Formats: sequence, structure tokens, C-alpha cells
Amino acid sequence: MQESVNWKEVAAQLSHPQGEAGIETGKQMEKTNVNMIRQTIDALEISENEKVLEIGFGNGAHVSYLFGKAPGIHYTGIDISETMLQEALAANADAISQRKAFFILSNGSTIPFADNTFNRIFTVNTIYFWKSPAQYAAEIHRVLKPGGRCCITFGDKNFMEKLPFVQHGFTLYDTAIAEVLLKKAGFTVEQTTVQDEMVKSNAGETLTRKFIIASVTKSHTYSGAQSLY
Ligand SMILES: C[S@@+](CC[C@H](N)C(=O)[O-])C[C@H]1O[C@@H](n2cnc3c(N)ncnc32)[C@H](O)[C@@H]1O
Repeated sequence: MQESVNWKEVAAQLSHPQGEAGIETGKQMEKTNVNMIRQTIDALEISENEKVLEIGFGNGAHVSYLFGKAPGIHYTGIDISETMLQEALAANADAISQRKAFFILSNGSTIPFADNTFNRIFTVNTIYFWKSPAQYAAEIHRVLKPGGRCCITFGDKNFMEKLPFVQHGFTLYDTAIAEVLLKKAGFTVEQTTVQDEMVKSNAGETLTRKFIIASVTKSHTYSGAQSLY
């Protein structure tokens, strides 16, 4: 029952799934967020042979959907959770053995790849947990190739702030706040789409969730972070 739910623990598992409860959280997110994740992969407009980075893959059950987008895609996933890493390794054993997919642990602050590595980058439901958002957005920009595209997807602040667990460590964004962050990191905002969908909440009720996909690019002529002012 709702009264007995430990919302701090729910928030902790969403931000960093661990142990048996983390595995369950991963399965729950796989169901609840499938539409958000697929819409994000669609918005990436991935072409043949491109290198794709995902930040915060959860249990990684959606990765096979990405390979249906074009031949020769190479996927790399980073996540801070050892529990999610083990789940994703098990769910994607074939793609890993075919050397199409690669999963590693990361520290949540830096992205362990060279500048200009990926053609496409996406992340769904992780922006709330970025500890230094400006630094992390700059990291994402750094590892994206010039001309590359990145899609960042999150629940809209007005929707999220009604949920009982977000007071425990979530930073919330709407389109305007996210655009300022991403422009400061050097990105050009190509498009932000807002969508409504029906989802079952962690408390078991059906809600209309508003989510945003921010599609941003790195210019071919980019020459260092610029001030907005
Ligand atoms: C709320 S879950 C979302 C999982 C999946 N993307 C989805 O939408 O269902 C957040 C995931 O991102 C990971 N995560 C949180 N902060 C992260 C960071 N700074 N860098 C990489 N992964 C992070 C967590 O371990 C977890 O697997």
C-alpha cells in the first residue's frame, strides 16, 4: 500500500539500481519506459555503420530495437550500476559476442572515451541524477563527433514534481531549463518534442506522463564552449 512505500529507497533504486531490488527496478523501468526509449532511438536518426553511445542503459533490454534501425551499428553503453551492467550483459549476450555491443561501468562524472568518438548519443531518464549537469553536458558534447546528434529524454518538470519520490535527489527539467544547459555546453538545439503517454506509476496508479526529447547537434565548426551572454 502507498503508505508503506519507502520513497527514498524507490528514488535511490531509480538513480542507481542495486541488488535484487535493483533488478526488479530494472524490469519495471523496461516496461514503463519502453515508449520513451523507442521514441528517443527513432529521433536519433541512426544511419548505417554509426557508433552510438547510450548513457544509463538500465537493464539494456531495448538495445536490440536499436540494431533494427540500420546495418552495421556499433552500440556502447555506460552506466554507474554494477547490477544493471550484469543484467545488460546477460540480455545482450549475442550482440556482445558479435562485437556489435559493448557495455561498461562509468563514474557518472566523466565519459571514458576520446573526443569526437560517437556519431549518436542518447540518454533517457538520467538527467535528473547528473551531479554536475554543466560538466556532464560538456562531457557528452566532447565525445560527440562534429555533425553528430544527441537525444536527451526526460519527464517534464511539471509532471515529475507531482511524483512522491522526486524530492529525494532528483533535479527536474523542463524544455527551457534543458535548452539553456545544452546550449551552454556548446550544442545547437535542433528540436524539442513534448509527448503525452499513459503510464503506471510506482504507486500503481495510471498517470498521463509528459516527456520531452531534446535533439541537439554538435556543429562541424565548433571551436570551444561559448557563453550565452
Ligand atoms: C531511471 S534509470 C533509467 C534507465 C533507462 N534509461 C530507462 O529510461 O528506463 C537511470 C539509469 O541511469 C543510470 N545512471 C544514473 N546516473 C548516471 C550517470 N551519471 N551516468 C551513467 N548512468 C547513470 C542508473 O544506474 C540507471 O541504470
